[in-house]
Amino acid sequence: MNDARLAAGLPLSQLPPLSQPQPPPPAPTHVPPFPADATVLLLEAAAQCERELDQRIPALDHEPRRLHAAMRHSLFAGGKRLRPALVLAACRACGGTDADCAPAMAAVEAFHTYTLIHDDLPAMDDDDLRRGRPTCHVAFDEATAILAGDALQAFAFAQAAEISAEAVRVLAQAGGSLGVVGGQQDDLDAEGQPVDASPACAQRLERIHRGKTAALIQASCELGALAARARAAQRTALATYGNELGLAFQIQDDVLDTTADSATLGKTAGKDAAQQKLTWVAVYGLDAARAEARRRLDTAIVALNTFGTAAAPLVSLARFVVDRTY
Ligand code: IPE
Ligand code: IPE
Ligand code: MG
Ligand code: MG
Ligand code: MG
Repeated sequence: MNDARLAAGLPLSQLPPLSQPQPPPPAPTHVPPFPADATVLLLEAAAQCERELDQRIPALDHEPRRLHAAMRHSLFAGGKRLRPALVLAACRACGGTDADCAPAMAAVEAFHTYTLIHDDLPAMDDDDLRRGRPTCHVAFDEATAILAGDALQAFAFAQAAEISAEAVRVLAQAGGSLGVVGGQQDDLDAEGQPVDASPACAQRLERIHRGKTAALIQASCELGALAARARAAQRTALATYGNELGLAFQIQDDVLDTTADSATLGKTAGKDAAQQKLTWVAVYGLDAARAEARRRLDTAIVALNTFGTAAAPLVSLARFVVDRTY
């Protein structure tokens, strides 16, 4: 005999037959309201941010057509959209809605795409493949690629301004001489320099990675928090998570440059060694680089403790960063 039916205390004749459809059980409270699966989140963020970008970036027939075509060529080329996914997950974790963070998603992806266009220029990494397509300066020309990057950067600030003045400041700080641009300068200056395991070399490497990559990943998380009008403690936790995750992201980028192929990456593999870049792999080797990425991942996840189970999507994105193969 079914224990639950007996426990109901009714005569058996008044109980519904066991085959009768039962009401669904109440939703367990420990499951977060949003998908924790990184793949689902990345797809959601890609769909939302691409819709926003398509609506907000001038159309192809808008003059100057060549410039808008170049911006769209690099934007709509199938990037992973990790930074918008971080905005979205951070905003949701702080109780914000997807609509709250729509401009922030557009801002970080446009800003990131500008950095990619400029990173690929002949004066920088001189790459001809990006996101599976010819780089912007190859598909158009160098001057147009510089201008497309400039325009995407300006566009990004305009989107951040829809969130708040503080959001503009966060993006500007991440993008400036103490962030992305500074990291890119350090990266170029270190090219071809002797690599060793000295503290000076290790410090330089970490500054490059925190500047050129972690700063914008941190800003993406903070913008999500700002869009949701998060409490200060939540924003601080997300900033720590983003910075450590950003470092792990760039270490994994260094690993993939040596282990993956160009078709999988959608960009030229093996460039770092060819250009004598100062990378985690060059200084510490492949195994130690992988181990360090995992350590940074753990630190990033610990920073999310304050969010409890609401952190599950952010944890899942963090694992994707280190486990990814592209
Ligand atoms: C590549 O970033 C540039 C780095 C910061 C290492 P992503 O690997 O996120 O590039 P997309 O957006 O997926 O193309
Ligand atoms: C570039 O680092 C980071 C930025 C674009 C700011 P990398 O030069 O390693 O990026 P990839 O490998 O070309 O994507
Ligand atoms: Mg570079
Ligand atoms: Mg590069
Ligand atoms: Mg790289």
